[in-house]
Amino acid sequence: MSEIAVSMRGITKRFGRKVLANNHVDLDVYKGEILSLLGENGSGKTTLMNMLAGIYSPDEGEILINDQKVEITSPKDAYDLGIGMVHQHFKLIDVFTALENILIGLPAKEAEKKCRAEVEQICQKYGFDLDLDKKIYEMSVSEKETLEIVKTLYRGASILILDEPTAVLTPQEITKLFTILRNMKDDGKSIVIITHKLNEVMEISDRISVLRKGENVGTVLKTETNEQQLTEMMVGEKITLDIARDFVEEKHKRLEVKNLTVKNIDGKNVVDDISFDLYSGEILGIAGISGSGQKELLEAIMGLQKCEEGSSVIYNSTAHGVHELVGLSTKEIISHGLHLAFVPEDRLGMGLVGNMGMTDNVMLKRYRKGSGPFLHRKMPHDTAVKIKDELEVVTPDLEYPVRRLSGGNVQKILVGREINNKPTVLMTAYAVRGLDINTSYAIYNLLNEQKKKGVAVIYVGEDLDVLLALSDRIMVLCAGKMNGMLDGRTASKEEVGYLMTHLKEEA
Ligand SMILES: Nc1ncnc2c1ncn2[C@@H]1O[C@H](COP(=O)(O)OP(=O)(O)OP(=O)(O)O)[C@@H](O)[C@H]1O
Ligand SMILES: [Mg+2]
Repeated sequence: MSEIAVSMRGITKRFGRKVLANNHVDLDVYKGEILSLLGENGSGKTTLMNMLAGIYSPDEGEILINDQKVEITSPKDAYDLGIGMVHQHFKLIDVFTALENILIGLPAKEAEKKCRAEVEQICQKYGFDLDLDKKIYEMSVSEKETLEIVKTLYRGASILILDEPTAVLTPQEITKLFTILRNMKDDGKSIVIITHKLNEVMEISDRISVLRKGENVGTVLKTETNEQQLTEMMVGEKITLDIARDFVEEKHKRLEVKNLTVKNIDGKNVVDDISFDLYSGEILGIAGISGSGQKELLEAIMGLQKCEEGSSVIYNSTAHGVHELVGLSTKEIISHGLHLAFVPEDRLGMGLVGNMGMTDNVMLKRYRKGSGPFLHRKMPHDTAVKIKDELEVVTPDLEYPVRRLSGGNVQKILVGREINNKPTVLMTAYAVRGLDINTSYAIYNLLNEQKKKGVAVIYVGEDLDVLLALSDRIMVLCAGKMNGMLDGRTASKEEVGYLMTHLKEEA
């Protein structure tokens, strides 16, 4: 095996007295390798890497680079040592261009021309596609991520750390990123990638290190392991991953969507004349390559998008009567029992308050139901306990500020809260993004439970295997149009994949 680029020895990191995030971790990264860092939500992956990036300092242990002991006390130290990290939340300035963002914090403005030339060279060398004059706010997530990587390379990174880079990318973008990572590896660079998707781990890594509850439980060669073994290493026991699909006999029509059309700012139809019915006791899966109108469709039903003339969404619930939803405010729609659990790219950006604990965040959604001027903390407390148990939220206590929780644990609270809100219609989009395998299955089970209770569930997902195992029916979107409605029990992956990418000729 080749030389060691960076070596972590006996690294321990605590947060306060309650959290032991890393416990005597040893980790080596070789030159010219791609190492995957795997572990359940809250197992300490981000924290460990943040110590290489100079965000935190270890309480115990040492870090060696090229066999030399080093102190990394700031991101600048990290850069000087050739370590660059791309974080879960990008650190870019919106109103600046790509090039301006690369130049931030560097001396001498006059270097711009030189910088441009060098950056262009880097892009060419590794195969990046980047418009240096584009403003950040005009960029897609994938472009921003490309920029972050290019930025670290321009600053001389030979060790690149990527924290869940694929969580918000489309399959095509992931393929592109992996090609680039392989090019970088061939160039002798060291890459550490954090991801929850085991198929990616098996595709891209040379070796895999697994963290469990802050400890490194082992490192294996990709060629000598498989997904089952990796799952067991992460969880610490054998687990069976099965998605149940019950059939609910009694069905009531909850939504009747007719000719729903939404235009974007350029006047293009992002949701194009979509009509379908949604029933209680079913899970309607929505498949489509990312950006095919999934998000806008759900948002339109929730009153978060302006619908075009002729669009109609009739809602019919035993408890709330019959209503046309188009034209109602989101607040009114929620009060009728429709809930949207949408997991956004920015996890803290939507519906959670970072400084508050779990109980208060659960209460945020509940307070309207309180009967008097006094807030009842009992109900939100019970719900918080339930979410914590069901989804195994890793938090020292229910009042711990959620912004201090790991990325995945923040998300568990968001999804758990919506599911537990006793909706009549529950719409989820990308509910398991960033969640570890075990928790993802816990979410599928919760959705099934809701379905059995008679909730009408819409599940927008990326993983076709999951969509096929979970859904009673699958709607396939392609370029904003409904390109097929299939029976989830009989549809094949090929069929769904084909409909996602080939728009049917209109009659
Ligand atoms: N700044 C902080 N203050 C207090 N606790 C923290 C802080 N950062 C992380 N933690 C805690 O340390 C533990 C490890 O968190 P970390 O973010 O490293 O997990 P992770 O493996 O990256 O998880 P995920 O897959 O969910 O992103 C968690 O219990 C988390 O709550
Ligand atoms: Mg993390």
